[in-house]
Amino acid sequence: MSRSSPPSRSAAGLKVLLLENVHTSAHELLLDAGCRVDALPNALGEDALIERLRGVQVLGIRSKTQVTARVLAACPGLMTVGCFCIGTNQVSLSTAHDLGRPVFNAPFSNTRSVAEMIIAEIVMLARQLGDRVREVHGGTWNKVSKACVEVRGKTLGIVGYGHIGSQVGILAEAMGMRVVSYDIATKLPMGNTQTLGTLEELLAVSDFVTLHVPATPVTERMINGEAIARMRKGAMLLNASRGSVVDLDALSRALRDGRLGGAAIDVFPEEPEENGEGFASVLQGAPNVILTPHIGGSTLEAQANIGREVATSLVRYIEVGSTVGAVNFPNLEMSPTAGSHRVLNAHRNVPGVLRDVNRIASDLGANIRAQMLATDASLGYLIMDLDQDVSTAVADAIGALSTNISTRVVY
Ligand code: NAI
Repeated sequence: MSRSSPPSRSAAGLKVLLLENVHTSAHELLLDAGCRVDALPNALGEDALIERLRGVQVLGIRSKTQVTARVLAACPGLMTVGCFCIGTNQVSLSTAHDLGRPVFNAPFSNTRSVAEMIIAEIVMLARQLGDRVREVHGGTWNKVSKACVEVRGKTLGIVGYGHIGSQVGILAEAMGMRVVSYDIATKLPMGNTQTLGTLEELLAVSDFVTLHVPATPVTERMINGEAIARMRKGAMLLNASRGSVVDLDALSRALRDGRLGGAAIDVFPEEPEENGEGFASVLQGAPNVILTPHIGGSTLEAQANIGREVATSLVRYIEVGSTVGAVNFPNLEMSPTAGSHRVLNAHRNVPGVLRDVNRIASDLGANIRAQMLATDASLGYLIMDLDQDVSTAVADAIGALSTNISTRVVY
């Protein structure tokens, strides 16, 4: 789709509140678009947030700020919310949807960071580096080569061949690994990756199995005792996806009785909320096991990318009405038409809305130069480019329809 700029920077003067130390890359982009940006290092509770959102059109948060239905209802001027992270559970998405406010996040900004960590861990597991490092730090010299292998020529099985899985595959092939993958969706295999039809087939042929699936009812405990029993003896398991995907008790047993040769686990069924909190896992002390505190995506580059990705989505929405990437809204984008004014309208998805809108434009003598509509079950989102002299009158009339949720002229 086109990424052309709007005729003017219609974000100018809009007020943005960024909480929780959102990366400076976001500030720069929003300031560049002409927004006024206020930033706080911390999250805010419900009442403080409502207070602080007076006069604010755009809110940027990370994972701690709870944008509840009450917050959204109490802040009618708020146009959109950007989650500068992957998850969006902290926002009442359905309320934001019903109020016509798209919510954006950054699903791909840390893809590469996770993939690189997996590659590092494959080599670490192959050479038992976690155990050796721990021993030498503890003052023990234990120079062993038993069961230590090169990764070249070994088979890597990737479960979930999405953004991260496919990146891992490309990097693993560069190290001379043979790559096989399994996904429930049909995916274009990158490089020489061989697609397998079932998880069982993948488990049976892989020296290393790495998991890159979402948390769903189907993936819950996908790697349980039965699945582990299908893995090759001495194979290694890596999980940097979600903690619900692996049965850790079964994994612990398989590692301690030598059935599996090692594991690298970055995500757990229950994870501490804060740094410094105690943490216990059945895997602690198991041989050749790398345990990390959910840091797969935690790099400086990922943080900067997240700042840029979400701020770009927010600016695109403010300036041209693009909802591409919104998690709770029909995704729509239309190139600006030269010399036009643009009207955006979110409405209840009931029969006859487009007819009413077009009648209004026609009655006011407005020529619709371009128009696009996207809908979901209950909401329609319309972008319309009109002759400049009538856009405000058209927007006012559309805004007065009983089906209207929100209407604005962006330029
Ligand atoms: P993605 O959506 O691009 O890929 C997921 C893939 O899994 C899709 O291709 C999907 O078709 C496939 N899939 C879904 N259900 C499946 C099933 N039952 N069996 C096989 N394949 C299945 O997601 P992305 O960005 O690659 O992320 C993957 C996982 O990594 C997610 O769970 C995400 O939460 C996690 N993640 C972890 C991070 C960390 O810090 N450790 C950072 C970023 C993401």
